[in-house]
Amino acid sequence: SVIAITDVLAGKYPVNEEITVHGWIRTRRDSKAGISFLAIHDGSCFDTIQAIAPNELNNYQTEILKLTAGASVKVTGILVESPGDGQSFEIQATAVEVLGFVEDPDTYPMAAKRHSIEFLREHAHLRPRTNIGGAVTRVRNCLAQAVHRFMHSKGYYWISTPLITGSDCEGAGEMFRVSTLDMENLPRTEKGDIDYSEDFFGKETFLTVSGQLNVETYCSALSKVYTFGPTFRAENSNTSRHLAEFWMVEPEIAFADLGDAATLAEEMLKYVFSALLEERADDMAFFQQRVDKTVIDRLNAVINSDFVRMDYTDAIEILENCGKTFENPVSWGVDLNSEHERYLAEEHVGGPVVLQNYPKDIKSFYMRLNDDGKTVAAMDILAPGIGEIVGGSQREERLDVLDARMKEMDLDPADYSWYRDLRRYGTVPHSGFGLGFERLVAYATGMQNVRDVIPFPRTPKNAAY
Ligand code: 4AD
Ligand code: MG
Repeated sequence: SVIAITDVLAGKYPVNEEITVHGWIRTRRDSKAGISFLAIHDGSCFDTIQAIAPNELNNYQTEILKLTAGASVKVTGILVESPGDGQSFEIQATAVEVLGFVEDPDTYPMAAKRHSIEFLREHAHLRPRTNIGGAVTRVRNCLAQAVHRFMHSKGYYWISTPLITGSDCEGAGEMFRVSTLDMENLPRTEKGDIDYSEDFFGKETFLTVSGQLNVETYCSALSKVYTFGPTFRAENSNTSRHLAEFWMVEPEIAFADLGDAATLAEEMLKYVFSALLEERADDMAFFQQRVDKTVIDRLNAVINSDFVRMDYTDAIEILENCGKTFENPVSWGVDLNSEHERYLAEEHVGGPVVLQNYPKDIKSFYMRLNDDGKTVAAMDILAPGIGEIVGGSQREERLDVLDARMKEMDLDPADYSWYRDLRRYGTVPHSGFGLGFERLVAYATGMQNVRDVIPFPRTPKNAAY
């Protein structure tokens, strides 16, 4: 099987023996003495391996001297310890087979130079070949694997919840419709409405905004569960924190209150950041150097801190009295904007903060009503630099209170009959949260925009690829 460059650089292969690696040229440098130095990457790690190609090779003039960034090669040679610093091993090439040249190197978009992040975004199919694109990809993978490992170690079962749904979890009217109806010739009911009984599923369906309602059903049977998959929101917000398609980790815990959910979220963040610093030191050193000078310190601070927990009511008081003028003024009852969230996390606390017990009128129907009758047991975790990274709550497990709340919000109980059943048959207190995975990756790398931490970002007016 093909040897990964990361294993070669880690010393897993014997020196002074023949080895073959495959990859793409990052740079080629030629010495006057008739030797070319090829830096080769295969994406398995941040570093390249250097292959030294002497002019005795039969294709030296015809091919090796024509290698440019992005060309693909198969290199065979003797693995030796590298005399230069910064590199552990290199290959004294005995054969360099060119698998694919780069057509017209002058117009190759990923030519070896620094590109703007916006330029890379417009070339999403070539972006993973760059240093930054590769590093983001490996970090994203590392965090996803760490999430699964963490949940598994805590005894949670991973549940696959559907992407196509008939229910609106968040009730924010941000759903993409899924339909096979002929748009030119929509079937109509007698009243003139679109007749969804003619549609594929025989009813109106959407892409899910959250797996929560579905995963709650499994929580009410297996106690500790989570879902981790893509979710979709047709919110027309062109910000650095919003995607129309993003991934979410959603644990759901039976016999647990809001504090238990906040604790699990805190432990999860610490676990995945520790795993990241341990497993991807190479990529994190790059982010620290090139993207955000404080990123590693920041992650270490999170790992070593106790998250501050603060009531919404207290946060409003802090914001009202902080002497700062916000674009959107605050008072009890308003939803917080990212400027408020960032003030609290960055300036007031200087670290992640768990904000809890929000006014019920700005939150979803399923959140548990507190005894004050005004607030619900909801929490958001706000992180410096990014704002809300986690949103969660204790769920309303009392059928009568849930029904009253749904009525208040004009939701039809018939649409949620299966959800109500969980309260009718052996109801239990339970809690959960959603961790926005792209916000997590952005936070962990210092990348400023969630569009740059998902392979193919989906945003308003943009579904390229
Ligand atoms: O706060 P949200 O809307 O919560 C829910 O969907 C709950 N049903 C989760 C649950 O309790 N199981 O979303 C959760 C998180 C946010 O905190 C944010 O990190 C992320 O999902 N998020 C987005 N990330 C990228 N683009 C968007 N448009 C996002 N909307 C939410
Ligand atoms: Mg939220």
